[in-house]
Amino acid sequence: MPKSKSTRKNAAGKFAIAILAAGKGTRLKSRYPKVLHEVGGKPMLEHVIASARKVVAPEDIYVIIGHEAELVKRRVGATGVNFVLQAEQRGTGHAIMVAKDALSQYDRFLVLSGDVPLIWAGTIERLRDFHREQKAAMTILTAEVENPHGYGRIVRKEGKSAELAAIVEQKALTRKQRNLREVNSGIYAFESRPLFARISKLKTDNAHKEFYLTDMAGLLVRDKQKVVALPAMNPEEVLGSNTRLELSMLDQHLRMAKCYELMAEGVTIYKPETCVIDSGVEIAPDTVIEPFVQVLGKSKIGGECRVRSYTVIEDCEIGDGVEVRHHSVLQHARVEAKAIIGPFSRLRPGSEIGEGAHVGNFVETKKTRLGKGSKANHLAYLGDALIGDQVNIGAGTITCNFDGVEKHPTAIDDNAFVGSNSTLVAPVRIGSGSYVGAGSVVTDNVPADSLALGRSRQVVKEGWAKERREKMAAK
Ligand code: UD1
Ligand code: CA
Repeated sequence: MPKSKSTRKNAAGKFAIAILAAGKGTRLKSRYPKVLHEVGGKPMLEHVIASARKVVAPEDIYVIIGHEAELVKRRVGATGVNFVLQAEQRGTGHAIMVAKDALSQYDRFLVLSGDVPLIWAGTIERLRDFHREQKAAMTILTAEVENPHGYGRIVRKEGKSAELAAIVEQKALTRKQRNLREVNSGIYAFESRPLFARISKLKTDNAHKEFYLTDMAGLLVRDKQKVVALPAMNPEEVLGSNTRLELSMLDQHLRMAKCYELMAEGVTIYKPETCVIDSGVEIAPDTVIEPFVQVLGKSKIGGECRVRSYTVIEDCEIGDGVEVRHHSVLQHARVEAKAIIGPFSRLRPGSEIGEGAHVGNFVETKKTRLGKGSKANHLAYLGDALIGDQVNIGAGTITCNFDGVEKHPTAIDDNAFVGSNSTLVAPVRIGSGSYVGAGSVVTDNVPADSLALGRSRQVVKEGWAKERREKMAAK
């Protein structure tokens, strides 16, 4: 959280990281701030903060916020970074003006962009080190990208040096400059003194009537200060996202990177381009992920599992050797080793499926423990239930856990057998080793080892159908 102004002495020799995150993101046409839009299942700003935190402590990170500032703060506040408010967003140069008090305590600092989320910690360190080696006043991380449209272009000085003359924004490019493919990533290193000595010289005489931080390059060069460019090793790392199309491309990029990482760790993923796996997911070796699977949030999947197509797993813990068959939806659930789920199962939050248990098609569970080796293979609703080991739940069984006002628990003890189409009206307990006859409505507890029949007895009227046919024929 915001620190009291530390003395310049404490900050000397250290460097800070500023993250520009105040902009509205007009081109996304969204009511939410751009930097909170998600790629790889996480807001862009969170990715940037995570990389920055690998390089400096959170108290040396300054996130510049403005548009929907409270929302942004709430979302990433727990990371412990500082926030600087840019109440009016008058450009990237203005964002740094606003942060002057915080940043001028440091000899040098880096600027990252909240909408350039793929940046690696290693690249941030490379930029920091290159900047110091070069003894530059400003160092710009650049990249040669396939489609440079929309980016500021790098105009180098004559000759082959790393030094550059200026950064020219898209709208100000001359026809000749439009062919330049080296772009400004929006990521820089600055020496504080030369920057803040000139920051008031930035002007708004441009297409957007904004203070451009990019103009600082030209200002410094004019005063014979050294401005250099460092090309990123991996150009994809500096891709920005101003539009929904760019967002989806970044998302795809991150998803593929996650799949490749898992594959390298021994997971088989068929058609990874069809899978959506969040960056926080862990999967152990020899697990097979079939096409069109989503594994989201903080899910953890053991080894030698098989997750079949069209399944969605969110924030679940899944043991070894589990098979999740087609079209299952699992949320905040725990599944122990060798269980079989699906096809078409729905495990809602608080479901706990024991070792070797089976949950079959059209079975829904919620806040329910299904013990070791127990089976609910077809068409059931099991809510607020504690079910023991080796229990059989017949097709069509329902726990009536809700009386219209409150929820009530059902207990089904070890080795019980619940016949098909049973209605268990909670609170109720089915004792161990007992039987519930098919079609029963069970309102009272069933003692261990007994049989409960909660239905009227069958009546057989012999010859009835034959008599009826004869009567009809006589008419
Ligand atoms: C900027 C660069 C461009 C570069 C590109 C790389 C400028 C003038 N241009 O363009 O050279 O190629 O990034 O992605 O800098 N922001 C604020 N306060 C503001 C305005 C913006 O904090 O007043 C933040 C935005 O939230 C965003 C970042 O600064 O995170 C960049 O702003 P954006 O408007 O996206 O700049 P680009 O047009 O992409
Ligand atoms: Ca941008």
